[in-house]
Amino acid sequence: MWCRIRYALALGCLALLQGSNASADATKSPQYQALPSLREQASLLDGWTAERKALIPGILSKYNVDAWLMSQREYAEDTVFWALKSFTQFSARRRTTQLFLANATNGAPSAYSWIDNTPLVWSELKAVLQDQQPRSIALNTHSELAFSGGLHAGELNAIEAALGLEWTDKFVLEPMIAVELVATMVDSRLDWYRKMMETAWAIIDEAFSSRVIHPGVTTAQDVEWWMRDKIQALNYTTWFQPSVSILTENDCSMCPSSTGQESTVPRLLTEADFPAHLIQYGDILHCDFGVTALGLNTDTQHLAYVLQPGQPETEIPDSVLTGLQKANRLQDITRHHMKIGMTGNEILKNIRAQMKDEEIQGKIYCHATGEFGHSAGTVIGMTNLQDEVPFLGDLPLLKNTYYSIELYAEHYVPEKNMTVLFPQEEDVYWSEKSQSWEWVYGRQSQYLFVHSASKDQHMAAEIEL
Ligand SMILES: *[C@@H]1O[C@H](CO)[C@@H](O)[C@H](O)[C@H]1NC(C)=O
Ligand SMILES: *[C@@H]1O[C@H](CO)[C@@H](O)[C@H](O)[C@H]1NC(C)=O
Ligand SMILES: *[C@@H]1O[C@H](CO)[C@@H](O)[C@H](O)[C@H]1NC(C)=O
Repeated sequence: MWCRIRYALALGCLALLQGSNASADATKSPQYQALPSLREQASLLDGWTAERKALIPGILSKYNVDAWLMSQREYAEDTVFWALKSFTQFSARRRTTQLFLANATNGAPSAYSWIDNTPLVWSELKAVLQDQQPRSIALNTHSELAFSGGLHAGELNAIEAALGLEWTDKFVLEPMIAVELVATMVDSRLDWYRKMMETAWAIIDEAFSSRVIHPGVTTAQDVEWWMRDKIQALNYTTWFQPSVSILTENDCSMCPSSTGQESTVPRLLTEADFPAHLIQYGDILHCDFGVTALGLNTDTQHLAYVLQPGQPETEIPDSVLTGLQKANRLQDITRHHMKIGMTGNEILKNIRAQMKDEEIQGKIYCHATGEFGHSAGTVIGMTNLQDEVPFLGDLPLLKNTYYSIELYAEHYVPEKNMTVLFPQEEDVYWSEKSQSWEWVYGRQSQYLFVHSASKDQHMAAEIEL
């Protein structure tokens, strides 16, 4: 997702439509996937969390840290709390303090959790430290990385006062511990992630069809709210407002402003930045859409074309097809350059060099996804940062995680006398088997089509509205 940030350098987002039973990929016919009962979800998610917790000692050893301490008060949770909580936990309670050890000795446990509001938390914690004698204790105190900086300032004061110099001397900052823990997507999650992605595709397919869109009647906002309602009807939720925009009106969030230049002065967005765009014949529609369920989040951008009445799908302008093909080419280039261990900034540089060679204009802005919509891990560009991204872009790319390959390619559409931005976003997972990034469900290589409704249907829609 490319968010409608308050201090936007550029505006809006796009939308789309589709018709009949076409889908984004001719070989795919995505179906709505119903979620299991909450009780079944609890055992599923707690199983995934147990697998993730079992990784902690290995991660601590990888970064040569003996212990990792997290502590929080109710409603002031560390970011990592959400990746470790059980299904029936809705927040931290009282003081919730967690300690993990790389190599517990004397048969002691490697994980500890206290939920208490008395000094007993500290005396028991100190007893474990005395017994285990860690040489280093990592705290989540990074000033720039959210996943490694979730320790609240007041809680740090409380920890320091309670533990004293003997242990505060051993505090260290190793941001990759939290990043790697949150980023790691255990294999058993993939089947459900794929089903959620199929649901997201199915919602987009229906939204971008003549079942939802009636050209000249339906606005982009109507489609956005239809999507919200559909998510709710399926018992899913989401992590951002669906966004539907009309590329041929240049109203996507990553589109340059009407002056043709991105404003470099941050400003507040107003209602006027998001006019109620009426969808018309010949529009290229775009959506930025994700669903949330089972502690996972998806992120997808697809395109649709609104056919003229009677226009066959085979007769859309070549320039419109070429725009999507260029975006597909950029996806392949990006996937190819995403080498494990390289930093996001190195990867970005390599992608941009190849774009220059192939004379493709566009932007790259990929991020980790899964546990959080914008999850832990390096980023590969941001819409306003195409040379390097400070801090986040300096982290190495990890495997066993999910990424959103998010980008756009530019292409001139003579029918509209404008250079249109063709965005695409599709989630990938790391495959140990192929040693490469694979699409979670697929990728869009064909337009969705909004066919014009028959005259009768159109009249009915007008009456309804
Ligand atoms: C824990 O023990 C393993 C096996 O001896 C060792 O490889 C690893 O470095 C140790 N971890 C730490 C943080 O010392
Ligand atoms: C949504 O949840 C309700 C209440 O549990 C249930 O009756 C309904 O079948 C669910 N719908 C879907 C599509 O799973
Ligand atoms: C196409 O757009 C350019 C730049 O905005 C403008 O100068 C030109 O007159 C336009 N051409 C036509 C045929 O509208």
